[in-house]
Amino acid sequence: MSNDDHDRWLLCHLPLVARVVVAVFLISVGIGYFSALVQLHFQHAKAGEVLPSPEDAVHAYHGVDGMSVLERLIVADETLPFNGAGSMRAAFTTRSAGWRRYVRNKAKALNLDPSDPDGWRQAEAALRKEREWEIDAIRAWIHAGASKDTYSEFPLPKEIYGQFPESFSSDFFFKNDKDEWVGSIINIIDTRCVRCHSEGKGGAAAEIHLDKFEVLKEDYLIPASSGGMPLRKLAQSSHVHLLGFSMLYGLTGLVFAFTSYPLLLRLILAPFTLIVQIIDISCWWLARLPEPTGPLFGKTIALTGMLVGASLGGQILLTLFDMFGKKGKMVLVGLLVLAALIFGILYVTVIGPHLEWERTAAGL
Ligand code: HEC
Repeated sequence: MSNDDHDRWLLCHLPLVARVVVAVFLISVGIGYFSALVQLHFQHAKAGEVLPSPEDAVHAYHGVDGMSVLERLIVADETLPFNGAGSMRAAFTTRSAGWRRYVRNKAKALNLDPSDPDGWRQAEAALRKEREWEIDAIRAWIHAGASKDTYSEFPLPKEIYGQFPESFSSDFFFKNDKDEWVGSIINIIDTRCVRCHSEGKGGAAAEIHLDKFEVLKEDYLIPASSGGMPLRKLAQSSHVHLLGFSMLYGLTGLVFAFTSYPLLLRLILAPFTLIVQIIDISCWWLARLPEPTGPLFGKTIALTGMLVGASLGGQILLTLFDMFGKKGKMVLVGLLVLAALIFGILYVTVIGPHLEWERTAAGL
């Protein structure tokens, strides 16, 4: 085919009303993409960060080698989102029942003033240290084989009980009849996790029955080939993206194909969003491969994700400016300026303060 546009059917040949509909469609896809970014922030980004980093992507999709899902979630940075791809560590601290009350009581026990920020911080640090023992005990139990026999009385390694103060005992840690320190892993999981993760608790967390030893063991404690996002989640997310977004990117690509730009540009950019999306989703799965390949694919996700956004943005903007005459283009420029203005205002009044709040809430 020659690159002559004289008799080629072009988007700008459409009647005005049809072009307006196409323009509004493209604009709404653009806005939709922004709301997808907001979702991405809440699903995967660390507190205070706008979007997830390549390392966050590796953590979510690849996990940590040789580590089961449960262990990964309790050692993961507390500022990652509180979900299966991020971290459950806050279940021992800020998301544990009565956390602030416990910090206040700790302050009293240490003769600190909880109303003084410094006193609060010291009391919180002391309490965090105790909660750390619970995490260490679960990890030691997992590394010792996570057997049902020791689920309620697990002999603690010296590194843990050596840190206990004089005359210490709790629901979780006590001496058995042989005067040895043991940890009740079942009590820790019951107190810290089962209050959200058992049948009838409500919400998505209730689908995960951590009160059943078999579920705990088989689904979350066996270090699978990948301790990344559970397969069920990955499969769901993949099919939603492939079916839903393919439709969308297919349309934006098709519309772009009928613009008046040179053949080469159209040939590359029109299918580009669809192609990078396929590569992006392939990387989600390939990130499950063992080191060092898996983490490389994990890091690539941040790049391919960005390319999808850039490609979609390019298709939308180029198409919009190809459809209308001078007056229409001026309206478009006006709309773009307005959008930038709205975004600026949103950033100053909502987004910025929200990120700041996330940082403070995470104690950063
Ligand atoms: C305050 C409620 C709450 C507490 C407490 C809690 N979780 Fe979660 N957990 C959640 C939510 C919400 C999700 C995300 C569920 C979803 O999106 O499907 C989740 C997800 C998970 C997942 C991912 C499961 C999957 O298949 O996707 C695991 C594993 C998990 N939590 C383990 C734990 C452990 C271990 C503890 C205790 C240390 C704990 N959780 C404490 C609310 C909680």
